[in-house]
Amino acid sequence: MEKLNKLAIELEQTSESLKLQPDPAAVEAFRIEWLGKKGKIAGLYATMKEIDAADRREAGQRMNRLKQNAESVLEQLEQLCVQSQVQQSLQREPLDVTLPVAEHMQLGSHHPVSLMRRRVFEIFHRLGYVVYDGPDIEDDFYNFEALNIGKDHPARDMADTFFLRSHEYVLRTHTSNTQIHGMLGRTPPIKMISAGRCFRVDNDATHSPMFHQVECLAVDRGLSVGHMKGLIETFLSELFGSRVKTRFRSSFFPFVEPGAEVDCECVLCGGAGCRVCGHSGWIEIGGCGMVDPNVFEAVQIDSEEYSGFAFGFGIDRMAMLAFGLPDLRDLFVGDTRLLSQFPDQPYFSH
Ligand code: DAH
Repeated sequence: MEKLNKLAIELEQTSESLKLQPDPAAVEAFRIEWLGKKGKIAGLYATMKEIDAADRREAGQRMNRLKQNAESVLEQLEQLCVQSQVQQSLQREPLDVTLPVAEHMQLGSHHPVSLMRRRVFEIFHRLGYVVYDGPDIEDDFYNFEALNIGKDHPARDMADTFFLRSHEYVLRTHTSNTQIHGMLGRTPPIKMISAGRCFRVDNDATHSPMFHQVECLAVDRGLSVGHMKGLIETFLSELFGSRVKTRFRSSFFPFVEPGAEVDCECVLCGGAGCRVCGHSGWIEIGGCGMVDPNVFEAVQIDSEEYSGFAFGFGIDRMAMLAFGLPDLRDLFVGDTRLLSQFPDQPYFSH
């Protein structure tokens, strides 16, 4: 008991003096001296046999308490060591968190195609159109059949279309598939807009095998070519401002009648003619037309009661025009030196 009392006092004194100047080496020495295999506590337990049987119980309890005390002292000392190390390193190298960050820090930027799509959605959202999504992988019915593109139509040619699983599925060749998704099972009025990736076997300055389109569809009673033209002109002048001239050229698409192609004046040459516009002064941005009765039939909408118009424009083409890019493929090589140049609000917005 006397030995236990002495050790308890010694533990207290040692811990007080170590706490004054916490130092990892001294703390480790303390651990070995007190709690090590051959340490003071272990030595105490070894004397258990020599203690009278009547006192053993009390002695055992006091030994356990002493051991717990030593362990908690060790823990406190270790914490103090960490704190004092932090304190020392702060004194050695003060940190000024108010200093400005390094100037070359690179910020991310939006891709020109994303900027363009967002802008198009903003305009159509304001005009009351609903934004729909559509699948990149499509089956024959939505991409071709329901759009009045018969089995022998040249648009299905292997030279244009990426087929999957023995011609059962395709990578959609246009966003016009969303017209079918938008109409099936719905009753007009329908006003929808959809944008996304399209795929075709094509590759030059104005074509890329993966490109983006935006599709617009309106179905209601009494819609006419005038409504369509008015909407497209409103949209393009919102998008480009009055800078860009547009023209409609009569054309054929199986899912519309009548149909037209829409051109914008080439911004790269100001209409004078250059390599990008094929020396014509105009860049085609897509097609439009009045929904063909055969399409209405495929989605069970009565073409006697309703009429509609649709258009599908190339988003990449519009981005080229808006940002003055000479080669469409530059958009898809992922060179951040080029892609980070475009401001979040393109110059044409107002
Ligand atoms: N889907 C056509 C294409 O990719 C573009 C198109 C033409 C979409 C006429 C339309 C339309 O909605 O009415 O070439």
